[in-house]
Amino acid sequence: MIIYFAPMEGITDGILRRVHHELFGGVDIYCLPFHKLTQTMSLLTREKRDISPEENRGLHVLPQALTRDPGQLHAWLQSVSARGYSCADLNLGCPSPTVTKRGRGSGMLRDLSALRAFLDQVFSKPLPISLSVKTRIGYESPEEWQEILPLLARYPFAHVTIHVRTALEQYTGAIHPEAFGLALRQGLAHPVYNGDLRTPVDVRALTDRFPGTKAVMIGRGLLFDPALARRIRGGPPASREELQAWYTALYEGWRDRFQETIALGRIKKLMEWPVGEDIKRKRLLRRADHIEGCIEAALGHGGENSVLEPMNTM
Ligand SMILES: Cc1cc2nc3c(=O)[nH]c(=O)nc-3n(C[C@H](O)[C@H](O)[C@H](O)COP(=O)(O)O)c2cc1C
Repeated sequence: MIIYFAPMEGITDGILRRVHHELFGGVDIYCLPFHKLTQTMSLLTREKRDISPEENRGLHVLPQALTRDPGQLHAWLQSVSARGYSCADLNLGCPSPTVTKRGRGSGMLRDLSALRAFLDQVFSKPLPISLSVKTRIGYESPEEWQEILPLLARYPFAHVTIHVRTALEQYTGAIHPEAFGLALRQGLAHPVYNGDLRTPVDVRALTDRFPGTKAVMIGRGLLFDPALARRIRGGPPASREELQAWYTALYEGWRDRFQETIALGRIKKLMEWPVGEDIKRKRLLRRADHIEGCIEAALGHGGENSVLEPMNTM
């Protein structure tokens, strides 16, 4: 089973990727949040740093682009290739209205003839490196997958990551795993399942239902439980000490790179996942003005039931 750490803009930067790899491991490929391509083709400072080989030393990473312009994509693939990468990803999944109203991300799923023309142009000449794609199963309705799937299958993508929701479904509510099953049945090359994998049991249920599953991408599940990939591979759950080390290393990395208030803001954003809807811990986290307070909110005092609920291992 290949495990991808999903790209999450504003969260999964180089510091998080490196600390995760060192402390927990289990992930094969770390995905970079998208580069929003522009006419000038100049990347933001943080994007340049995020993709730099120094930032990703020892890691297998997959850069990602958000664009509807084949020329921009070609130029970007050249620059990614020059940085030593052999594969990069195209974003057809971002559901943010600021992105979709410009016809980018999952906005490209709204007009399949335009998407087809775009992909025809992209693949009309040899690419410097291989290209993968990350998609939703539709913009408005899961029914759209019936047309999107054969369209994507026409092109030689290195792999196709399928977030089994429509764009309008954003990130919550029902998922449609049957869309992934259809991709397997129709012989789509290298499909990667994505959506709501939170425990090793979820992964087992997926592979039981779809025995052809060879690769999964996990995002929020790894924020909730950074040992999830390790556990999927039969390793131990995270100990309290490991979780403390995880949050402390992230905080220190972000504090050294940015400044204390930004580091605290980022750690709080990350901790929203393990804290969940627990009112008491949410309040503790909101009020915390130092890392120890945040860790206490995320892990509790150390008594029974205070660390992340242990979840079934496979
Ligand atoms: C805060 C946040 C930022 C995200 N940024 C990106 C991104 O830059 N590129 C992308 O393809 N998906 C992005 N996603 C979507 C995730 O990669 C993933 O597809 C989604 O969270 C579903 O997987 P999960 O249920 O395992 O979290 C983002 C999701 C979240 C919650």
